[in-house]
Amino acid sequence: MAKTIGAPRGTRDLLPEQTPAWDHVEAVARDLARRYAFDRIEIPLFERVELFARGLGESSDAVEKEMFRVGGARGSDEERAEWALRPEPTAGIVRAFIEHGMHVRPGPLRLTLLGPMFRYDRPQAGRYRQFTQWDVEVLGDAGPAVDAELVEMAMRFYGGAGLSDVVANVNSVGDATCRPRYRQALVEYFTAHLDRLTDDSRRRLEVNPLRVLDDKDLAPDLAGGAPRSTDHLCDECRAHFRGFLDLLDALGVRHVVDDRLVRGLDYYTRTAFEFVIAGREGQQQALGGGGRYDGLAELLGGRATPGIGFGVGLDRTVLAMEEQGVALPARGPVVAVLGTGDDLADRMRVAATLREAGLAVRPDGSSRKLGKQLESAAKTGATWAAIVGEELVEGRIGLKNLATGEQETVAVDDVVRRIRPER
Ligand code: HAM
Repeated sequence: MAKTIGAPRGTRDLLPEQTPAWDHVEAVARDLARRYAFDRIEIPLFERVELFARGLGESSDAVEKEMFRVGGARGSDEERAEWALRPEPTAGIVRAFIEHGMHVRPGPLRLTLLGPMFRYDRPQAGRYRQFTQWDVEVLGDAGPAVDAELVEMAMRFYGGAGLSDVVANVNSVGDATCRPRYRQALVEYFTAHLDRLTDDSRRRLEVNPLRVLDDKDLAPDLAGGAPRSTDHLCDECRAHFRGFLDLLDALGVRHVVDDRLVRGLDYYTRTAFEFVIAGREGQQQALGGGGRYDGLAELLGGRATPGIGFGVGLDRTVLAMEEQGVALPARGPVVAVLGTGDDLADRMRVAATLREAGLAVRPDGSSRKLGKQLESAAKTGATWAAIVGEELVEGRIGLKNLATGEQETVAVDDVVRRIRPER
């Protein structure tokens, strides 16, 4: 036998028993996108490395360590240096916004995307090399109302997914006016404790000191004693943050101010937030996160445009649903169309009629005995069996409820009414 080939490390196959949970969370996301009046946008799965380097920052893990490089068919080093699979969609969406001159459209623009992202990280539970995000972005709105609206929207998503105990950790990381002061305070503090920093953190201290706070190996007492961003905000940023928090209160959104929350990407200004299961904050397993990036459009060569958004990790959401034993909405009925012997054309015609009426139908195309067909119908998850026999000349079939075993003879046209009595 030939050697088998496995899926790439850090990727997953979603098998049929797993996909109903995904269908559910995707449906919740799409329904919310509609109800919050977001428009769908799609961008390529790969972009120039330079877009990510400039947009997310050279010191972000996503760029520094996790770029998933791709080359052309010839795979030269130059090509590999040029392209990477998208680690996240925000930079690409802002690129598209600039490229298509979307700033002239009546705004603010509300854009949404759901799809795979790629980070070439060391795989572990809840961390994959290919994962799926539901992303929303608002361009051209300085907030703070939209900031609260988006946090409320994300929390509504987790509620819709059936999760309990999700909390929003929120912070303000300041802007170009006040961030330098905060950076300086961090540099002074951490320089005094240089011997307790990891090599990673020492490097971060030089490139982007805020990211030292994001080092999971940072000692808790060292993190706890570090300067807080909220103590260093300028008046405008403080007022913006206050407005955001007041609106979260007004909307009744469960949140906690975490004034050492910094995000893993460098584009954030002012509002930053992450969604975690309460009590599991330390595990670096955010279910989602986002924030404001008022400087990103300019950084990418466009005109200054405020922006804010979030990305929800669908993989982690589904994992949390499994952990919490969330029950999924019941699936609709499935009808198996069975028969005896040489009636295949009849079975297929009945199947077609029932499908036209909106039912989910799987015909049995075998010539096995009816008993065997019934057995496999139940095993493959069918809830009803439509049995084609002699009565078909009168437009009638046998209809068996596979859960109760009850059987009756009904007109083909009545099958839908019998199976879905509410209609
Ligand atoms: P992020 O925090 O890097 O933000 O990712 C958002 C979410 O994607 C995470 O909270 C997590 O649930 C999921 N995620 C990230 N990496 C992985 C992975 N390797 N495996 C599984 N899930 C993962 C962003 O990506 C920003 N673009 C969010 C944003 C949008 N900010 C403004 N607009």
